[in-house]
Amino acid sequence: MSFSSLLSRGAADILEELQALTAKTMEKVEVTKQYEVIRELGKGTYGRVDLVIHKVRGTKMALKFLRKKTTKQKSFLQEYCISRYLSTCPYIIGMYDIAFETEEYYAFAQEYAVAGDLFDIIPPQVGLSEHTTKRCIYQVALALDYLHNRKLVHRDIKPENILIFDKECRKVKLSDFGMTRIAGTTEKRVSGTIPYTAPELCETSKHSGFVVEYSIDVWAFGVLLFCMMTGNFPWEKALHLDTFYYEFLQWQKYKNANVPSQWRRFTPHALKMFSKLLSIEPEKRCAIKDILWYFGKNWLISKEEPPTADAKTNNDVYVHVKPQVLPFLNGNALDSNKSDTSPSLSFSSCSSYEDVPKDSNSNMLVSTPIEICV
Ligand SMILES: Nc1ncnc2c1ncn2[C@@H]1O[C@H](COP(=O)(O)OP(=O)(O)OP(=O)(O)O)[C@@H](O)[C@H]1O
Ligand SMILES: [Mg+2]
Repeated sequence: MSFSSLLSRGAADILEELQALTAKTMEKVEVTKQYEVIRELGKGTYGRVDLVIHKVRGTKMALKFLRKKTTKQKSFLQEYCISRYLSTCPYIIGMYDIAFETEEYYAFAQEYAVAGDLFDIIPPQVGLSEHTTKRCIYQVALALDYLHNRKLVHRDIKPENILIFDKECRKVKLSDFGMTRIAGTTEKRVSGTIPYTAPELCETSKHSGFVVEYSIDVWAFGVLLFCMMTGNFPWEKALHLDTFYYEFLQWQKYKNANVPSQWRRFTPHALKMFSKLLSIEPEKRCAIKDILWYFGKNWLISKEEPPTADAKTNNDVYVHVKPQVLPFLNGNALDSNKSDTSPSLSFSSCSSYEDVPKDSNSNMLVSTPIEICV
C-alpha cells in the first residue's frame, strides 16, 4: 500500500498500519556491510545518529540508532512511521525507506542535514539577527502547522531538533519525532526539555498524566523564538519559583506592570506575538498559523547587527558579555536575586540584559555593559 493512499485516512489508522507493515518487513542488518560510517553527527538520550554512505546507492545518509535496551520496538516503529508520514512536507526532515535492526539497536535512515542543528549556530548571549531568525522560524512554523493539521503534536520543539542545511538558515527542517503523539491522547508522564516546557506541564506531577495538546508546541515555539533572538532562555522553568518566569507572569497578568528587562529589546508587535504564543492559559494560546501575520513587522527595537566600534554613539554601547557560571548548573534552583541575568542558552554561562540606560528619545535597549567592547 502506498503512502499517498494511506494519507487520505485518519492519522491514527495510518500510523498503525504503517507500523504493522514495517514490523513485518524489518530485517537484521550488519551495518558495516551495507554502509560506510563517516562520523557521529549527534548523540541523544536513546542512541546516536551517524553520517554514513550507503555502499550500493552511494548516498550520504543520517542513520539514527536507538538502543534496544532503552527503546521498545513499538516506540521505534512509532518514531519511524511518524517521521515517514510527515516527511513529504518540505520543512520536515526527509526519510529513506530504510528501517532495520542490529544486535543492539533499531535504526532508520534520514536525509542528511549538512550544516547540523540550529543550536550550534545561535551565538550564546547574542542570538541570531532578526532577518535570519525570521527566515528560520517561518519554516519551523510551517512545519508545525503541517504537523498540527495532521492532528500530531511534536512535544520536543528545541533548537537541537531543527536541522539546518546552511548557516544562513535558507533551508531548515524539523526533526526528531520520538516524542510526537496524536493530539488528545493521554500521556502518563511529563517529558521534554525543561526550559521549553509549558507551565501547565511544569505544574503537573511527574506521574499524574496529561492530555497531549497543540498548545504545548505553541509554548515551546515561543521559547525557541526568544532563544533564537537573544541567545538566552527566558527562564529556567516556567514555575513561580523561577524569578524570570515570575516576572513574566506578573507582566502578562497586569499589563501595565513593568516590562521585564530581557523583553525590552522587542517591539510592541513582537511583544504582542510573544504574549499570544506564551499565553499562560493553554486554551488562550494562539495557533501557530496566527503568528504568520507578524512576519511583516519589526521584532527588535535595537539594531540587528552589533555596531562596530566606530558606529557607536554615547548612548549606544555594544558590549561583550563575560560568561559566568550560574547556580542552577549545580542543580540548585536559580536564585535570580543574586543575578538579574536570564538563563543562558548554553547552560554553561549567562548573559545580562539589565535595565540599561535608554536613549532619551527612543526605547533603544542595549546589552549590559559587563565588558565593554572597544
Ligand atoms: N538527519 C540529520 N542530519 C544531521 N544531523 C542530525 C540528523 N539527525 C540528527 N542529527 C544530529 O543528532 C542529534 C540527535 O538527533 P535526534 O534529536 O534525532 O536524537 P534523540 O536521541 O531523539 O535526541 P534527544 O532525545 O536528545 O532529543 C541532533 O540534535 C543533530 O545534531
Ligand atoms: Mg533530539
